[in-house]
Amino acid sequence: MTTPDPSKPLTGAAAVLERCDELASHSSLSDGLIQRVYLSPEHAAVNALAAGWMRDAGMATWQDAAGNQCGRLEGATPGLPALLLGSHLDTVPSAGRYDGILGVLTAIAVVERINADGRSLPFALEVVAFGDEEGTRFGTALLGSRALAGTWLDAWWELTDEVGITLHDAFVAFGLDPAAVTAAARTSNDFVGYLETHIEQGPVLEENDLPLGIVSSIAGARRFQITITGKAGHSGTPWTHRRDALAGASEAIVAIERLARDADLIATVGHLEVFPDAVNVIAGRAEFSLDLRGRFDADRDAAWQRIEALLEEICSTRGLHVAVHQTHAAPAAHCSDRLRGVIAAGIRAADGSDDGSTPLELLSMAGHDAMAVAHLTEIGMLFVRCAGGVSHHPDESVTEPDVARALDAFEAAVLALADGHTLQDPA
Ligand code: GLV
Ligand code: MN
Ligand code: MN
Repeated sequence: MTTPDPSKPLTGAAAVLERCDELASHSSLSDGLIQRVYLSPEHAAVNALAAGWMRDAGMATWQDAAGNQCGRLEGATPGLPALLLGSHLDTVPSAGRYDGILGVLTAIAVVERINADGRSLPFALEVVAFGDEEGTRFGTALLGSRALAGTWLDAWWELTDEVGITLHDAFVAFGLDPAAVTAAARTSNDFVGYLETHIEQGPVLEENDLPLGIVSSIAGARRFQITITGKAGHSGTPWTHRRDALAGASEAIVAIERLARDADLIATVGHLEVFPDAVNVIAGRAEFSLDLRGRFDADRDAAWQRIEALLEEICSTRGLHVAVHQTHAAPAAHCSDRLRGVIAAGIRAADGSDDGSTPLELLSMAGHDAMAVAHLTEIGMLFVRCAGGVSHHPDESVTEPDVARALDAFEAAVLALADGHTLQDPA
């Protein structure tokens, strides 16, 4: 642990936003676009930056066996279980600069404040900057947090990225030992809970004119790769002899959207590839992704069964073949009453309204590392308003006053948990 330098200003909201900008410059895309995927050179660079900021905040640091960057500030006595704070540093393609990143930097800044105040808490504080939440590189999401949660699957080693590099070989290229990945796994005894700050990635806070909110639960998600095969051929082929995979995929995509809307679920087809991909050749094969989310796993799974039947029906009518492969599954995760309570206390302390009222609670349709950590310990999440609800886009934006409020609320939530004085159910 480093002793705070009293002449150095603490990391406030403006400095947190500057750090977001600095991390955004570590990208594999040019023209100011951001993409930072798991086990890339950009991942190594942002881990090094985060490690330096963690040390400045007073933490001992290490990179774990799955490439997550970690830091720890001891509590009243060394070796106590920790309150884990964190989020992720990886991004989607053409990302914004706050999804995940803001949560890591908020956590570091809050630990810095608590250390500078010389407070000794009845638990240690750990910060984790997860290496993969989005699943951009290998299709399966939450790889970093699932390594920490001890739910890593050996089947993942053969996953490949878009240039055919396996997860196994990417580990080796990053300087990690695949055989040692289980060393990243922690146990329930290590933690008293997990708190994550994240931008909302939706419009509810903005519509309610609120800077902060409490997550009630996180929707479960399943992702699939769907391949429709027909027969490639000359674009002059008559209708009677065409087996067009792209026309079948298009009909299926629109039908999936309709079905999901009717079932009050969210379905996204964000990736589509066509083979052989030529203007005067009928598509012989179409591959597309499906990301399906819902508040309740049972509703989502029932809808998937209907989608599978629909795919079969559309393809058999058109003389096509369909194959589906699930690439990711995460059950819905509930935020504990206790941690929702401390986040509510933190929000009330930060806005000066200590009237016992419950700040707004929201369901998160976006996935978060907290879903994986829920396997180990109870979870709680603080949401920060983002402009227009826009996320996974370069226009992602937050304001400095909102970030300042989030820092105050997150610190107050940690201290409320330490004091043990707001353990009532916020509902
Ligand atoms: C990640 O942001 C996800 O919701 O998939
Ligand atoms: Mn995201
Ligand atoms: Mn995220």
